[in-house]
Amino acid sequence: MRSTLQYASLAALVAAGTASAGVVSVPFEKRFLDSNPLPSLLRRDGTVALDALNNITGGGYYAEFSVGTPPQKLSFMLDTGSSDTWVNSVDADLCTDSIIQEEVGEFCSKQFDQTKSKSFNSTRQLFNITYLDGRNIRGRYFKDTVTINNAAIKNQQMGLALESVRGTGLMGLGFRSNEAAAIKYPTVIENMVSQKIIAMPAFSLYLNDLQTSQGSILFGGVDTDKFHGGLATLPFQSLPASVSRTSDIVMYAVQLNGLKVSGVDTPSVNATAVLDSGSTISLLPGDVVQAVWKEFGVMNVQGVPNPFVDCAKANLKDTSLSFQFTNKTIQVPIDEMVINNLASVQDQIFSDPTLKQVFKGWSGVCTFGMASTSDFGISSDQFVLLGDTFLRSAYVVYDLQNQQVGIAQATLNSTSSSIIEFQAGSKSIPGPVSTGSDDSSSDDGDSSGKDNAGVALHPAFSAAIAGTLFVTLSMIMTAL
Ligand SMILES: *[C@@H]1O[C@H](CO)[C@@H](O)[C@H](O)[C@H]1NC(C)=O
Ligand SMILES: *[C@@H]1O[C@H](CO)[C@@H](O)[C@H](O)[C@H]1NC(C)=O
Ligand SMILES: *[C@@H]1O[C@H](CO)[C@@H](O)[C@H](O)[C@H]1NC(C)=O
Ligand SMILES: *[C@@H]1O[C@H](CO)[C@@H](O)[C@H](O)[C@H]1NC(C)=O
Ligand SMILES: *[C@@H]1O[C@H](CO)[C@@H](O)[C@H](O)[C@H]1NC(C)=O
Ligand SMILES: *[C@@H]1O[C@H](CO)[C@@H](O)[C@H](O)[C@H]1NC(C)=O
Repeated sequence: MRSTLQYASLAALVAAGTASAGVVSVPFEKRFLDSNPLPSLLRRDGTVALDALNNITGGGYYAEFSVGTPPQKLSFMLDTGSSDTWVNSVDADLCTDSIIQEEVGEFCSKQFDQTKSKSFNSTRQLFNITYLDGRNIRGRYFKDTVTINNAAIKNQQMGLALESVRGTGLMGLGFRSNEAAAIKYPTVIENMVSQKIIAMPAFSLYLNDLQTSQGSILFGGVDTDKFHGGLATLPFQSLPASVSRTSDIVMYAVQLNGLKVSGVDTPSVNATAVLDSGSTISLLPGDVVQAVWKEFGVMNVQGVPNPFVDCAKANLKDTSLSFQFTNKTIQVPIDEMVINNLASVQDQIFSDPTLKQVFKGWSGVCTFGMASTSDFGISSDQFVLLGDTFLRSAYVVYDLQNQQVGIAQATLNSTSSSIIEFQAGSKSIPGPVSTGSDDSSSDDGDSSGKDNAGVALHPAFSAAIAGTLFVTLSMIMTAL
């Protein structure tokens, strides 16, 4: 595990060396951090790039950056579904109490020691974020310097978790209006703009192939080497009334017009689809999911949230799921939907007589990357959650200023970079535009409930869905 990660980081350094002048690349980081306390003054209207590491067992994408002076490097889950950025304090109960660790099933990775930061400023405001599954993280808000590569963001408000149920902190990439705090504050992205680190509140997310552990997030720009076929622009949508009380735009959601499996239509889809990097799998309405599951022989064990699929399905040739948006179809190859997260218990599964019978003829037991919204308590058929199993195949540009996303088919394993910065006041997303029917690579033409205040949509699902990644043999046994 460890060595894979180091290899990935090394590859990133090599890749960064070829990036454009506007990018902040990893090799400079140490030098700037050690010798230059004001790196942000050196750069204006640039972009800031950050590696996004895929941790299948940890269920999500993580980035490392620093908090405090001198900088303390910490790990953050990247989450487009929520808006508060927070760290675990060294004093957090989860990090100091082994009984809680056992209960929660998580251990703390590096924690923030506020006593060691000269720029730490406490606030009196309570930090109290409640996830849809009822899990709750609490502490106080504080302000401190956040250093992302060589960009220093001053006075950033963040949560300092004292009562925690997650081993790492989280970077909320969503809107200010969706913050858990009663008094809203500038998000990291808003501060990057006001402190002139980037020109526009926008970022691009490239999760990359399931088989690689390395993706990236780019603030303030678009990397045209990471996608092909042009970007289609889709306006943000509000959530359906059955899911959210407000008609305001509170999540990164777009209109999804349909889904095809290997060219065959599934039951019709016309839904608001939340793009949520914090969810490891995708959720669609039940009738659609049933059709897809049938196609791939997916097995659903009552009481286990994890849909199972024969790992061999990953090798089906020329098989993909086509997600249809206005002017853009994103092809998700079947191997991106087959997650081999149960590898460590395969032997146990197949040495158990009952399970051996259940999974008879399978080459291995894998998780299928799509489940039904109703299994996660959402009854609306107009709501879809597109998590990592979808997002890995897409390059998505989140343009907060103009309330729109740019979406294109990702070019997997791209090692080069060609970065275009957003210009202040720009109304459109820079880069090649999808021309609808001309877009041969991935286009079909124009085929065309919850109170959100203080509630982060994603970690709710993430908790449940990340939980599925820790499915144990005993759970399967109990359910059978
Ligand atoms: C992945 O996440 C798990 C659980 O959070 C953690 O124990 C493990 O060390 C992580 N692996 C890597 C390579 O970071
Ligand atoms: C704490 O915040 C106050 C008010 O914004 C500011 O004047 C002060 O410099 C900050 N302290 C530190 C250590 O940054
Ligand atoms: C935190 O928020 C939850 C849900 O909104 C609420 O029930 C709880 O009382 C709050 N806890 C504190 C300590 O304020
Ligand atoms: C990307 O690279 C990984 C690791 O080298 C490899 O397993 C995978 O097949 C590659 N994907 C594509 C689409 O080339
Ligand atoms: C899709 O749903 C939207 C909003 O509910 C509606 O306005 C639109 O007419 C529907 N489109 C189709 C093709 O059914
Ligand atoms: C789809 O693309 C065409 C150009 O091919 C453009 O005129 C149209 O506005 C686009 N539709 C949307 C909703 O972006």
